[in-house]
Amino acid sequence: MESSSHTGADAAVQALEDLKTDIEGAVLDTVDAIDEYRIRYLSRKQGRITALMKRIPDVAPEDRRAFGQAINSAKDTVERRLEEATAALTTAASATSAPADVTLPGREQPQGSLHPITQAARLITRVFENYGFDVAEGPEIEDDWHNFTALNFPPDHPARDMQDTFFIEDAEQEHGGILLRTHTSPVQIRVMEDIMKDGEPPIRVIVPGRVYRNEAISYKSYCLFHQVEGLYVDEGVTMADLKQILHAFARTLFGEDVRMRFRPSFFPFTEPSAEVDIWWKDENLPGGGRWMEILGCGMVDPNVLEGVGIDSEKYTGYAFGMGIERIAMLRYGIDDIRILYENDVRFLEQFS
Ligand code: PHE
Repeated sequence: MESSSHTGADAAVQALEDLKTDIEGAVLDTVDAIDEYRIRYLSRKQGRITALMKRIPDVAPEDRRAFGQAINSAKDTVERRLEEATAALTTAASATSAPADVTLPGREQPQGSLHPITQAARLITRVFENYGFDVAEGPEIEDDWHNFTALNFPPDHPARDMQDTFFIEDAEQEHGGILLRTHTSPVQIRVMEDIMKDGEPPIRVIVPGRVYRNEAISYKSYCLFHQVEGLYVDEGVTMADLKQILHAFARTLFGEDVRMRFRPSFFPFTEPSAEVDIWWKDENLPGGGRWMEILGCGMVDPNVLEGVGIDSEKYTGYAFGMGIERIAMLRYGIDDIRILYENDVRFLEQFS
């Protein structure tokens, strides 16, 4: 019993010594050698370190602690050698690989760009900022009052049907219904309400934003799109001011020689109202081009001013609203609005 336990202990100590020698001696110069080394020593099932651990009971109780520590330090050695060998191999690989061929074409880094709608919106906004307009924004989820009533759409008047509305809570509700705004014009009301809390006109804002209409989707209409609204209220603002600024705007966007026309129209919140067309040159068309509508505009209806507490005897104003997609499509020669919403990178890349 005594002697057999001695023999067991001696064998275990010998196995530890062999292990140390083998660990130090192994040559680790290939990926395979490194892998094999890792498995041989560290494998939890068949590794030699695990095997040695199992022999701890063979060692005399007073020597077990030192024996265990020696195994641990052998294990540390294995791990250190693995790390060093891997690092050495990686450096060797990069050092011996062919030197960089500087004549090779560079690897292109894909770079994003602003969406054409964003670009057009910023361009339009910037033009009016240069004329002293401030940028304002309003909520896309709007109440019936701001979207329609305050803009002089009479209740149950068919004018409300001009814009197919997505209702969130229907109009029978006490507050008159909640909806997705169908245009940016409700922001006119919000801006005027805001200023009138503790001020007076002049008011001069430009309002870019997203709007929603429940329309059949086609190449020219989508269920959401973007508009830019403009509003200027001051003493003595006239239709001539409106025409002047819109003409200046069209020249900036479409060139000095742009042809534009004002066509009488109707909006409940402006009187008189007009739509503005620009002449779109196209050789393929019979007349060499055609008129394209780009915006609606007019003099702010006195009812609208009075509704937010602005004295319509003292102040007048103009307002306009344009579809950004329409402008972007004209500027960039896009013939189907839906492509603006597909996020096809091949299309978007062209605008970087
Ligand atoms: N809000 C109108 C529309 O969406 C455009 C408009 C804005 C007309 C301002 C007149 C004045 O069609």
